[in-house]
Amino acid sequence: MSTSLFEMEPPARPSKDILGAGTAVLAGFALDAEEELLASLKDVVERSPFRNMVTPGGFRMSVAMSNCGPLGWVTDRTGYRYDQIDPEVNRPWPAMPRAFRELATAAAEEAGFPNFVPDACLINRYEPGARLSLHQDKNERDFTQPIVSVSLGLPATFLFGGLERGDKTQRIQVIHGDVLVWGGSARLCYHGIAPLKEGEYPRLGRVRYNLTFRNVG
Ligand code: SIN
Ligand code: FE2
Repeated sequence: MSTSLFEMEPPARPSKDILGAGTAVLAGFALDAEEELLASLKDVVERSPFRNMVTPGGFRMSVAMSNCGPLGWVTDRTGYRYDQIDPEVNRPWPAMPRAFRELATAAAEEAGFPNFVPDACLINRYEPGARLSLHQDKNERDFTQPIVSVSLGLPATFLFGGLERGDKTQRIQVIHGDVLVWGGSARLCYHGIAPLKEGEYPRLGRVRYNLTFRNVG
């Protein structure tokens, strides 16, 4: 039996439309802004530190979260909501850094959603083993506005399903600098992140960050 370098199928890598109508996978789209993004991220989480929130069902999330922008996504025993105040420090969330906002607007436009102005940016921090189970983003008012999702640090397997929880999911490998956009007929598609694999990303360490931009309305 011969072995060839090409015998093992590589994991799917980003390209446009791979996830279907209303979606765009913009490989490396965030790389030009990398320095500003990382510096801004550091500023934000100095003021609103990462924390592991609790779901309404009482489970502590494995993903640690923070937010910036006028509205921040929070969960606690009373439910999920957007709040102007960071409950951990009892102050408004840090302003959305310009580099964040400009990247989100540019990525949305590239994906065919012009004039996207995010008013919320959820920041997720995954350490090896952390995962995000399949869910829909549906705490926002205006579903004509897309979701823009930026990956930094360690690679992850992004799960992208359909409009029903039980629909087949596609698995796509996302790496540092990749940006995913979904909106239109895909706006309410189920999605999640498979348990993060062990690894070490130069400069950032054993961690993946994700910035999710939304217009909550
Ligand atoms: C999310 O769905 O809120 C985050 C997805 C990700 O971490 O890429
Ligand atoms: Fe989500």
